[in-house]
Amino acid sequence: MRHPVIIMADAREITIASLRQLKQSGEKIACVTSYDASFTTLLEQAGVEIVLVGDSLGMVVQGHESTLPVTMDDMVYHASCVARAGKTALRVVDMPFMSYSSVDQALGNAARLMSEAGMHMVKLEGGRELCDTVKALTSHGIPVCAHLGLLPQSVNQLGGYRVQARDPESAQRLLEDAQLLEQAGASLLVLECIPAPLAGRVSEKLQIPTIGIGAGPHCDGQVLVLYDLLGITPGKRPKFTHNFLEDAQDIPGALRAFVEAVKQARFPDAEHSYS
Ligand code: KIV
Repeated sequence: MRHPVIIMADAREITIASLRQLKQSGEKIACVTSYDASFTTLLEQAGVEIVLVGDSLGMVVQGHESTLPVTMDDMVYHASCVARAGKTALRVVDMPFMSYSSVDQALGNAARLMSEAGMHMVKLEGGRELCDTVKALTSHGIPVCAHLGLLPQSVNQLGGYRVQARDPESAQRLLEDAQLLEQAGASLLVLECIPAPLAGRVSEKLQIPTIGIGAGPHCDGQVLVLYDLLGITPGKRPKFTHNFLEDAQDIPGALRAFVEAVKQARFPDAEHSYS
């Protein structure tokens, strides 16, 4: 009888399981957005564990005022560029605005991002209302990263880019949303622009890793938009970002400095956090 050949994953490849191990061991996870092949290679060489093809590309690459105009074709294009270069990091991609407004639509679009664009996980913005979608995606073998707090795709509903969940009721609701999304099958959770103590509570309660942006130092990992990290985003610098190129010799040095600052829990500090 012939035995099936078991192909072991490359030891350097980051998986959902290895991210969970990092959380359990207390080692912080470094994540940066990427929209092309060259930066993906540099980010992996710097030791980033997750590359996120964020729909922030609508603003930093395409010049829109929000992420709303970004299309599925845009995401497939940029995700494919990232996937061609990607070797070690887990590749997560944003599902764009209104591409997951029903379970069937989410399944079809996520399948494209996984099979056509070579992604490992899709990211959705929203709380408990997405639990059925998360269950459907994960039951079809599509891992999900949830996203709570400031939801850029809902900027018109929120009335601007502001810190979220500051009052006790909305903080409690966010904590419950996080738990419901984990129970529904989410493997990762991005927390954007919420008070640091709340992000700490959420991170403590969940088994899955939390990745913060403007959510303080107690998350299991940190993400920055690549262009913010390099200080090339025009306009006012958001409080939670830092220009790592300022004190580095070159771009690879800036990316390494970000990874080191995250791993050594030096970034973010109180100056980059909300209380
Ligand atoms: O689109 C993006 O870049 C994101 C990060 C800010 C988390 O969602």
